[in-house]
Amino acid sequence: MTERLGPDAVAHAAALLWGGALVAFPTETVYGLGGDATNGAAVAGIFAAKGRPQFNPLICHYPDAEAAFADVRADERARLLAARFWPGPLTLVLPRRPDCRVDLLAGAGLDTLAVRVPGNPMAQALLREVGRPVAAPSANRSGQVSPTTADHVLEGLSGRIAAVLDGGPCPVGVESTVLDLAGAGPAMLRPGGVPVEDIEALIGRVGRALPIAAAAGTQSLRSPGMLLSHYAPTLPVRLAAERVGPDEALLAFGPPLPGAAVVWNLSEGRDLGEAAARLFAGLRWLDAEGARRGCTGIAVMPVPETGLGAAINDRLARAAAPRG
Ligand code: TXA
Ligand code: MG
Repeated sequence: MTERLGPDAVAHAAALLWGGALVAFPTETVYGLGGDATNGAAVAGIFAAKGRPQFNPLICHYPDAEAAFADVRADERARLLAARFWPGPLTLVLPRRPDCRVDLLAGAGLDTLAVRVPGNPMAQALLREVGRPVAAPSANRSGQVSPTTADHVLEGLSGRIAAVLDGGPCPVGVESTVLDLAGAGPAMLRPGGVPVEDIEALIGRVGRALPIAAAAGTQSLRSPGMLLSHYAPTLPVRLAAERVGPDEALLAFGPPLPGAAVVWNLSEGRDLGEAAARLFAGLRWLDAEGARRGCTGIAVMPVPETGLGAAINDRLARAAAPRG
């Protein structure tokens, strides 16, 4: 059975990771499904526990930039970004060093590696105690909504992992921004917790990977994890709703549209940070509560595309995409 561990059990969690077991842990974005990134069997176990259909490359987590840059080659831009945003919700894709400790499967055989230094104190304590890179995708079954509480983790993975460290709800609520610094120019592969505008203020123009709708079905995705349907609730999701039917559940942003059977408000006061933090919990709640009340779908009010809105709209577009 999966143990639920408190803050005093960090050393125990680290020992489990050392032994090759899988431990979910809180980060500031979402809960991660952690395994020792230097241990091929542990990494394979991550894919199996999630039911991931393909070996998408995983992000490796470190306690600080020095530890991260021991496994990848950091240039001037990477150092600037790390100094400004780490610990925090930014992932950098950089060339692997020849002596990189991370198992090839964790990086899906690529010559680049995604590295990140999470801001959550429990994650920090765990990573310091482990002293090895920890590979961690979001701690949900493949294709489902990412977890922002330990309860969400257990709903999907109970019995499939050794333990979950319970650090309460995740304050950011959407995953990290993934920035590719290994190509010709910097490219944002996934919008996330650090707005791209803030990155551009530091290193100049950042390219955007194809919008997900345009990228659907192509083989040329720069980030293999950019699959279209993802974060999918059971009920169908309808975006940019300007009206709502009596048989619909409503994901509201600002003053809610009248007439919905069930409402979850991302942010009454239209605060994008609050909306990001409440997004995944809201999708889960509307899915369960909507189904219980016989709703036929989830209608979503428009969210502006600025700042954290880009990450919120990216996740919503995936939740609404045709299921693969
Ligand atoms: O906030 C987060 O980033 C969370 C927490 C747990 O840290 N983690 C997370 O991991 O979202 P995951 O595995 O769900 O997403 C990793 C993303 C995928 O889109 C993957 O394709 C991309 O990063 N990625 C990983 N390594 C890559 C690489 N070498 N090149 C390009 N993309 C990469
Ligand atoms: Mg995920």
